[in-house]
Amino acid sequence: MHTLNVDLGERSYPIYIGQGLLGQPELLRRHIPGKSALVVTNTTVAPLYRSRLDQALEGLRVETVVLPDGEAYKSIESLTTIWDALVLGRFDRNTTLIALGGGVIGDITGFAAASYQRGVHFIQIPTTLLAQVDSSVGGKTGINHPGGKNMIGAFWQPLAVIADTDTLNTLPDRELSAGLAEVIKYGLIYDEPFLTWIEANIERLRARDPEALAYAIRRSCEIKAEVVGQDERESGLRAILNLGHTFGHAIETATGYGNWLHGEAVGAGMCMAARLSELEGWISAADVARTRAIIERAGLPTHAPQGMTREQFQHLMGIDKKVLDGKLRLVLLEHIGKARVTGDFSPANLITCLDEFTSSAEPR
Ligand code: NAD
Ligand code: GLY
Repeated sequence: MHTLNVDLGERSYPIYIGQGLLGQPELLRRHIPGKSALVVTNTTVAPLYRSRLDQALEGLRVETVVLPDGEAYKSIESLTTIWDALVLGRFDRNTTLIALGGGVIGDITGFAAASYQRGVHFIQIPTTLLAQVDSSVGGKTGINHPGGKNMIGAFWQPLAVIADTDTLNTLPDRELSAGLAEVIKYGLIYDEPFLTWIEANIERLRARDPEALAYAIRRSCEIKAEVVGQDERESGLRAILNLGHTFGHAIETATGYGNWLHGEAVGAGMCMAARLSELEGWISAADVARTRAIIERAGLPTHAPQGMTREQFQHLMGIDKKVLDGKLRLVLLEHIGKARVTGDFSPANLITCLDEFTSSAEPR
């Protein structure tokens, strides 16, 4: 097992990464301060892992909310279901909410923990690659609004993140690829040697080689913890973690939540961000080709969805959370391994980029 620390003063917490961690109750129990817990999971994950968690929680008062599965349920209705269970079950302020699942469950549960009685304890048990490398770490929680992805939420840090890599054995291939999008992101924005390692090991990662996955998860979490430790509330540096996300969130909203997976939309979005970086004169055509090649080899789309228009992108990108005082800011690549947030790009280049990607759209 590897233990990393997210260094946030009194809100610091460990990330445990390893095989068989769900079978180590002590790991979880040491982070539960009170006598009660509410587990939140979904209809896919519950039959796979709920009983192991129930065993680990024996002796506590435990209730479980099982939500329907899917990005479409990262909604106010699901949040209300959790609030109802907490209020009707008379859970007090010393309760711990435990998220057992992927990023959707983690984000909703975190927001429920942030808002119930103005904030209760929260533990993340991520069971997808995407959640283990990204969404369970850093304290961004929330839900979607029909008009915009992740529009409602709060920063609320967990007390611990327990990433049992054995859970990835049951993950569908398409979901594994979606998680690889965020792994590739860390190489592109922060660590060129890590990108080179991903390029050399992409087949091992897709074949779920445990050693390769463990290294990818560890390095991704190290980078995320380093960035979040410097800028928890995204007043600057943290925004680089959103490479490709402004394009990607527009894709997710336009296509209807859940049709394109978050990681797929981010994969295509990173290709778009790389091309815009080239149009701005920051990176070379070879760098763009390199970005596109690794995204393709990870099994991810490199084009916008068929039928999506430049105007749809422009409209949806205009409500991104990085818009400040009406000005759109984007994460672009200064070079491979270094990203920068900027509002200082040419609007004409953005239009060229959007036109290229929307006219070259291929069916998926
Ligand atoms: P997800 O939560 O929808 O999980 C993907 C699918 O895998 C679901 O069908 C789920 O039921 C299933 N699943 C989960 N664990 C499984 C397992 N071990 N075996 C078999 N199936 C399993 O999607 P995701 O990719 O984990 O997360 C995407 C979400 O995370 C998006 O809503 C995105 O906005 C959010 N996100 C948040 C942050 C953050 O910082 N908070 C960062 C990145 C992404
Ligand atoms: N996934 C982006 C962030 O956590 O900031």
